[in-house]
Order: sequence, then C-alpha cells, then structure tokens
Amino acid sequence: APASKLLADAPYAEHLTAAIGELHAARLPPADDARWRRAVVEHVNSIAARLWRGAQVRMFGSSASGLHTRGADLDLCLLPPRPPHINAARRMISSIGVELEAQGMLEVLPLPSARVPIVKFVDRASRLQCDICVNNLLALNNTALLGAYARADGRVRPLVATVKYWAAQRKVNEPYRGTLSSYAYVLLMIGYLQTTDPPVVPSLQQLGRLDGVERIVDGYDVWFCDDPGAHGWSGSANTQSIGELLLGFFARYATEFDDAKHVVSVRLGRMLERAGKVWGEQQTAAARKGRRADRHLFCIEDPFEITHDLGRVMDTTSLGWTRAEFSRAHALMQARAPLAEVCAAWSDA
Ligand code: CTP
Ligand code: MG
Repeated sequence: APASKLLADAPYAEHLTAAIGELHAARLPPADDARWRRAVVEHVNSIAARLWRGAQVRMFGSSASGLHTRGADLDLCLLPPRPPHINAARRMISSIGVELEAQGMLEVLPLPSARVPIVKFVDRASRLQCDICVNNLLALNNTALLGAYARADGRVRPLVATVKYWAAQRKVNEPYRGTLSSYAYVLLMIGYLQTTDPPVVPSLQQLGRLDGVERIVDGYDVWFCDDPGAHGWSGSANTQSIGELLLGFFARYATEFDDAKHVVSVRLGRMLERAGKVWGEQQTAAARKGRRADRHLFCIEDPFEITHDLGRVMDTTSLGWTRAEFSRAHALMQARAPLAEVCAAWSDA
C-alpha cells in the first residue's frame, strides 16, 4: 500500500501491532517446552542407537527453527550412518515403530509405504505429537535456513505465529485437503518480508555469497549466510510496525501477487516471473500436447529444492478456498476489523 495510506491507517496499524503482540505471547510455548522436546529427542535417539549402530535422531521443523507455537508437533529425523536406499528406509520406519510401541508410546502409526516414509506417535510423558522420517537432509537444512530468518529480524517470529494461527483457524493449513503446509506459509511470509521497501530481511542465500560457493546436499545447493551481521547486513532499514507489515502481507497475496505471472522465491528474495521457471514451460508443453496441464496454480519455490513447488498441493478448489481467505482477511483489514475477527474460527454455519 502507498505510504500515505499506511499513514492514514496508523491508529489501526497500532491496534494490530498490539493484538499481534498479545497473540504471539499467548501462543508461545510453555516455559518447560524446550526441555520436554529435548527429552523426547534423547529417548528416541537412544532407541535408534540401540537398533542401528551410529544412528542419530535430530529435531527439525518449527521446534528447531524457533518458529513454533504452543502445541506444535515435534518433527524428528533419523540419520543412519550411511544414506539408506528407500526400501531400507521403509524397513527402518517399521522397526522403529515396533520399538516405540514396546516403549509404551501412544498412537504409534508407522507409514512405511508413504512417498516419504514416516512413523507418527504421541510421546507418553509429554503428550507431544511426533513424526519421525529417515535421512531428510534437505529438511534439516531448510529448518536451519528458516531459523536464520527468525533470528535476522525480531518481527519475523510474531508475524509467522500470526499467519500460522490465521491459516489454521481459517482451515487453509490442511495439506491432506489440498491447502498449504505451515512450511509454505512461512515461505510466503519470508518472501513478503524480503520484498517490502526497504526489505525487512535480505535473501540469506544471496547475501555474502562468494562466486562459485555452494554446498551440495542431495543434489541441491543449500548454502546460505548464517551470520548476516558479518556480511554487510546491519539490520533492516525498514521501520514498519508488525501491524503495518501484516496489513501488507494480506494486501500482497490478496491483490498484488498475480499467481498466473509470479513465483514466490525466497532463494532470490524477489518475485520471479513464471515464464523463467521450468514449471511454466512444462505447463505450456503439456497444454500443447493436449494433456491436462500439471497443476502449478500458485507457485512457491522451495528455497533449496528449486524444482519443488510448495503450492502444488492445491487444485482449483483448494486454491479457491485459499484465495477467498486471503481476500477475506484483506477486506476485513481494509474495514479495520479487530485481529480476533480476522482470525475467527471458520464455520460453515
Ligand atoms: N518440510 C519440507 N517440505 C515440505 C513440508 C515440510 O521440507 N513440503 C519440512 C521443513 O523442514 C519444515 C518441516 O518439514 O520446517 C515441518 O513442516 P511443517 O510442520 O509444515 O512446518 P512447521 O514450521 O514445523 O509448522 P508447525 O509449527 O505448524 O508444526
Ligand atoms: Mg511441524
């Protein structure tokens, strides 16, 4: 929105800023949360080390990036000493499932045949909902990247907490129903914060990168700048409040981002033109051959696995729901609705 508009909206933006602060504080994990999470990691680590010599268990996802809120699940990754073939990974999931059951874990559900084999369970002591996957090195690395963004500017955490809460309340954070994952919403927020004027956060994959430097993991370059302060980023010149930024986030995705033309790219820190992306070409090629075009309706590039579009879970129906929710939030904010109303629980009544 133009600066004049934001100025006119100042009291409303101030209200939003206060409300986001309260929501973030209320959604912060309890004081002993980190201890509980570490205890589960230790326990599962000891089980894994007993089953496979040299195996380790690591935490990833929001518990490890610092972008978690109260009650977030615990994402765990089993790292065998050597990268396993997919069938070995499936067997590991089954074996650890048996052992978790024997240790009295609750609701143990091994899904060894899933595209990404995982076992789900609820830790008996902490009641934390946990998932274990095998050797997901890209996820460990993208978690570290998100953690670096969370530390890069103090506004990232409250804004991410608010958008995750809004998406969950509005039922547009249900990947099994074709809406975006929490991870995708985090990328949408970072992508927005990189493209405000001036930016709130830089692209950590570009900042301080020396020519030819890369770090290849599973075939993708996962290099990023872990210490922006040491590479010429002396904090953001953007002085907008979190309220103004939340307004801008919804304006961006409700009105400015054209999903037919743009791709969200946290890697480059700017909106890409779809035309330059292989997805656009694939789609055109498929259409030419008269095949149903592959569904890249709203493109969010994974920062490392750049051939992966996180928006691909959406079909026209779930994209319709998601777009409607962005528009609703934007319209309510234009009408200066309280944050509680913007984030009101969805109901079909
Ligand atoms: N992940 C990924 N690719 C996806 C989805 C998830 O690599 N398509 C990885 C990311 O490392 C992400 C982690 O899995 O950080 C957990 O994903 P998710 O639960 O969606 O995100 P969280 O930030 O953990 O969200 P929440 O707090 O809601 O658990
Ligand atoms: Mg998670």
